[in-house]
Amino acid sequence: MENNLENKVVSMPRIGDAAPEFKAVTTQGDINFPADYKGNWVILFSHPADFTPVCTSEFMTFATMSEKFEKVNTKLVGLSVDGLYSHIAWLRTIKEKIEYKGMKDVEVKFPLIEDITMEVAKKYGMIQPNEDTTKAVRAVFFIDPEGVIRSMIYYPLSLGRNFDELYRVVVALQTADEFGVATPADWYPGDDVIVGPAGSCGTAQERMDDEELDCKDWFFCTKKLDKEKVFDAILKK
Ligand code: BEZ
Repeated sequence: MENNLENKVVSMPRIGDAAPEFKAVTTQGDINFPADYKGNWVILFSHPADFTPVCTSEFMTFATMSEKFEKVNTKLVGLSVDGLYSHIAWLRTIKEKIEYKGMKDVEVKFPLIEDITMEVAKKYGMIQPNEDTTKAVRAVFFIDPEGVIRSMIYYPLSLGRNFDELYRVVVALQTADEFGVATPADWYPGDDVIVGPAGSCGTAQERMDDEELDCKDWFFCTKKLDKEKVFDAILKK
């Protein structure tokens, strides 16, 4: 898809597309994306700049939650258009000096990509010129174990992300895949899930008669799905 913003053409990947390929240098060594991550879910995310306060609060939050993401088979990969030495100096400063919301001595162990040429940022539509021509916006790509983009969220420079929501998205996507269901508004594990419309899983009458389903009408059926069952299915074995 291409958006023509005041004559500036921006390419944007779409849900369902193969994640654009790239090779990059990161704070954890070189990566070949998405091939190196086959078999894992990945959150590829960009931030506008090193040594900025909102980004600092985000990295501290994400790093603190990284084990939680690891447990649901999800790797984190960050990117900004800064260079490697800036990344290293910023992450060291965070660990040594910054305290935020009870988090301190925070070590960022996931890779942070250097992208001074903006090659990767441009492939992923992270540079949105009407927001800023020289910085990436706060983009988040959820990529499945086959390297397919399954969801994406974009935030402007001024808005720090909600990392509980990013975790909820990863769990909901995996739940949908594992159980062949959809997740309704504000769903959290343990809440009822949506069973697809008639045709996709039985006729309307069969669905209305199914005792496992709670159908309010032919198009709106839910069923129970225990939190334990969700996590049994998606927690890393
Ligand atoms: C920040 O992370 O604080 C920030 C970065 C770029 C523009 C505005 C805020």
